Amino acid sequence: MLRWRCALNNCKQIRIFALLLLVISSQWTFAASPEAKYSRDGMVTSRSELASKAGIEILKSGGNAIDAAVATGFALAVTYPSAGNIGGGGFAVIRLADGNVVTLDHREKAPASAHKDMYLDAEGNVIKGESRNTHKAAGVPGSVDGLLTMLEKYGSKSRKEVMAPAIRLAKKGFVLNRDLTRQFNNVAQRMTAYPGSMETFTNKGEKYQIGDIFVQKHLGKTLETISRRGRDGFYAGPVADLIVAEMKRGNGEITHKDLQDYQSVWRAPVKGSYRGYDIWGMSAPSSGGALIVQMLNMFEPFDVKAMGWGSSEVIHLMLEGERRAYADRAEHLGDPDFYEVPMAMLTSKDYAKMRFSDFEKEKASDSNAIGAGSWPAESPQTTHFSVADGDGNLVSLTTTINSSYGNKIVVQGAGFLLNNEMDDFSLKENTRNQFDLIGRSANAIAPGKRMLSSMSPTIVTKDGKPVLVTGSPGGSTIITTVLQVVMNVIDHEMNISDAVSLPRFHHQWLPDRVFYDEYGISPDTKKALEVMGHKDLKVVPWGRGIGDANSILVKDGEISGIHDPRNEGGAVGL
Ligand code: GLY
Repeated sequence: MLRWRCALNNCKQIRIFALLLLVISSQWTFAASPEAKYSRDGMVTSRSELASKAGIEILKSGGNAIDAAVATGFALAVTYPSAGNIGGGGFAVIRLADGNVVTLDHREKAPASAHKDMYLDAEGNVIKGESRNTHKAAGVPGSVDGLLTMLEKYGSKSRKEVMAPAIRLAKKGFVLNRDLTRQFNNVAQRMTAYPGSMETFTNKGEKYQIGDIFVQKHLGKTLETISRRGRDGFYAGPVADLIVAEMKRGNGEITHKDLQDYQSVWRAPVKGSYRGYDIWGMSAPSSGGALIVQMLNMFEPFDVKAMGWGSSEVIHLMLEGERRAYADRAEHLGDPDFYEVPMAMLTSKDYAKMRFSDFEKEKASDSNAIGAGSWPAESPQTTHFSVADGDGNLVSLTTTINSSYGNKIVVQGAGFLLNNEMDDFSLKENTRNQFDLIGRSANAIAPGKRMLSSMSPTIVTKDGKPVLVTGSPGGSTIITTVLQVVMNVIDHEMNISDAVSLPRFHHQWLPDRVFYDEYGISPDTKKALEVMGHKDLKVVPWGRGIGDANSILVKDGEISGIHDPRNEGGAVGL
C-alpha cells in the first residue's frame, strides 16, 4: 500500500489526491479479468499448460500452427485425460496463411452393428445408463485419424517430431496438480469395475496425492506405436486388438472392421457474416456453426452495443434467439451423410429474419409454443484449444469423449479412455440426453452414422485477416458460450481477457430455463427478465461455470491469448 509522509496540514489534500489517482488509474489498470499473454510469433491456449507448452515446443522448432495443434492434441490425451483423448473425436476449423479456411470432421461413428433402438428395452423405454456408462456407449474413435490427417495435409513436421512431447509426458510422467488429483480421486470411485481404469487413475490402488508423478506407461507405448506406424498404429495391429478385446470383456460393439473403416472427412465450413466480420464454423454433424451463424443473423439488425453488455435488454434478445435456434437444432440437424440438413436455410439472413419476426422486445416467448422453423409453405466432457502462428495459420480444435472421463473405461493395456459419444444420438424421439437436449429422426442411430454435436470451433476474420480463434466444451452450452465470446469481441469491443472471463448465460429452448454464471445476472436484471416472462433463472448447478473458452485474438499484428479462468489451463506465447 502507499505510504505518504506529509505535514499535518497538507496531509488531507495529498490523501484526496492519492485517492483520486487510485480511482482514475483503477479504471485503466485494474480489470476483473486476468491478464492475457501476448506474442507476435505464436500462441497456444488449452485446458492444460503442459499441453500448450508441447505446442509451443513445436512452434519454436519451426513448425506451423497445424504441427503445434497436433502436438497439443496428443499431449492433451496425456495431461488432461478427462476430455483430451485418443479414444474420442472432434472437429477442427483451420485458417491457412493464404486465407483459405478448411474444416476437418473427426467425430466418432456408430459401429456397424448399431441400430435405432439399441438403447431401448422391450417396452421401448431408454435403458438408463446404457448409452453412457458401458462398453456399448463407445463410438468408433476419430481423434487419431483426425490429428494425423491434419498433419499430413497441412503440417510441416514429421509424426515423430510432433508426437515426441506427448510420448515424453506419458513415459516420464508429470507432477500432479490439485485439479487433476481431485478429479482422479473422485472418478476412481466410479471405475472400480474396470481394471484398466483403476490401474491408470489410482496409485497402485491408493489415492493419488498432489505432487505425485503421474506416469502412463501403457499410453506411452500406444502413442509410440502410433508415432511409428501412423493410423495403422491405432486402427490396426496391437492397439486395435486391445480395443476389440476390451469390447469383448463388456459386450461392446466396436470391431476390427469398424476401426479399419474409420475415416475423418474434410467438410466445407459454415460461413456467415456479422457486422463486416466473417464467421467460420463447423458444419454438420456439428450443430455449432449453423446455430452461431443463425443467431448472429437474428441479432445483426439490433444495436447490441447500445443496449449494453449485461443489460436485461440484450440478455432478453439473446435468450430469445437461443430459444429459436435450439428448437431448429432438435428438428433439422444430424449427420449430413445420412440426413439432408437444410444448412443453406439455417444460415441465411432471410430465414433468420423470418424466424425472429415474432420476437417481442419486452416479452419472453413460451418454448412450448416455439416449434422448429421451416421456410414458408412454398417452398448439439469436451475440451477446446486454439493455436496461432506468426504467419497467419490458425487452428481452432474442439475434442471430446463426451462425459468427463467418457464411459470411464480405459482400454486395458492401451492406457486410454473410451468415449460415450453414442449418448449424443437421439436414443428415442424427444427423449433428453445428458445435456437435456432432445432430438428427432435427423439424429437417430444408424450404422456408420456420426452423432450430432454441439462442438463449435470457430474462427473470425475481417477483410481476410485473422481476428479471433475460439471454441469451448460444455455440451449444449458450447454454442451459447462461443456466441457470447464472438459478440463480446465484435459488439462490445472487448479485449480477449474480458471477452472470455466475463459471466455467461444459456438457454436451449427446452427445458424452458435460463442458466447463468454465479454473479452473472444481477438481482434487478433477473427481476426485469422475470417480468418479461423468462422462467426458471438459476445459477449453473455444475462446476466452475459455463464453458471453458480458451481463445486467441489477433489485433494489429499482436496475438493475445487467454485460458478461460473458470478452470486450470495455460495460454503460452512464443
Ligand atoms: N459430446 C458433446 C458434443 O459433441 O456436443
